[in-house]
Amino acid sequence: MKTLLATAFTVLLFVTGMVMPVEIMAETKSLRGTNAIDEPSTKPQITRWQEDKEPIERDYVQQPPLIPHSIEGYKVNLKFNKCLTCHSWANYKEANATKISQTHFEDREGQVLANVSPRRYFCPQCHVSQVDQKPLVENEFEPVQAITGK
Ligand code: HEC
Ligand code: HEC
Repeated sequence: MKTLLATAFTVLLFVTGMVMPVEIMAETKSLRGTNAIDEPSTKPQITRWQEDKEPIERDYVQQPPLIPHSIEGYKVNLKFNKCLTCHSWANYKEANATKISQTHFEDREGQVLANVSPRRYFCPQCHVSQVDQKPLVENEFEPVQAITGK
């Protein structure tokens, strides 16, 4: 009975693709530059951020906007949030920056809080600076009509 179960399980694994035949595995090339799961990824090349400029257009409506300026050395920790020194509602006018939207005050139940919601506190978790890079995989994505108007 036990061997029968084990055989059935192995067959199931093959069918669901969890165990791949060796030839297929050899062809798979991980984007991390290495195929073994326990090996560290290849170090990314050091690139220069784009020069500071006007906001970069979004590609889809709900996209966290890309950061159009360098954030090198900008700390965000428990006691201090460098981003908010320019982007908070109290400071945005003086800094001439975009103020964080009201969605950033909502907790996950949709309750509006008096301050930035903890789930929106670590800004670079969602917002990243842009560099001019070749995509890792070919990509034919087109921005939505709501943005391009085409
Ligand atoms: C010294 C002030 C300053 C600091 C600090 C700062 N920003 Fe900015 N940020 C700006 C200004 C100014 C703009 C451009 C606004 C414009 O040109 O309309 C901007 C633009 C942005 C935008 C684009 C908004 C849009 O509408 O597309 C994002 C996103 C952003 N910043 C995120 C961040 C994050 C995240 C941090 C912290 C890691 C940060 N910023 C720190 C001043 C600042
Ligand atoms: C969980 C993801 C997430 C985190 C964390 C986050 N944001 Fe955002 N942010 C978004 C998304 C999505 C949008 C666009 C939709 C919206 O306004 O909610 C946005 C929009 C913005 C905008 C543009 C607002 C506008 O009116 O165009 C600014 C500026 C911004 N965020 C700054 C920040 C700063 C500063 C922090 C950290 C205090 C932060 N965000 C944290 C996801 C995030």
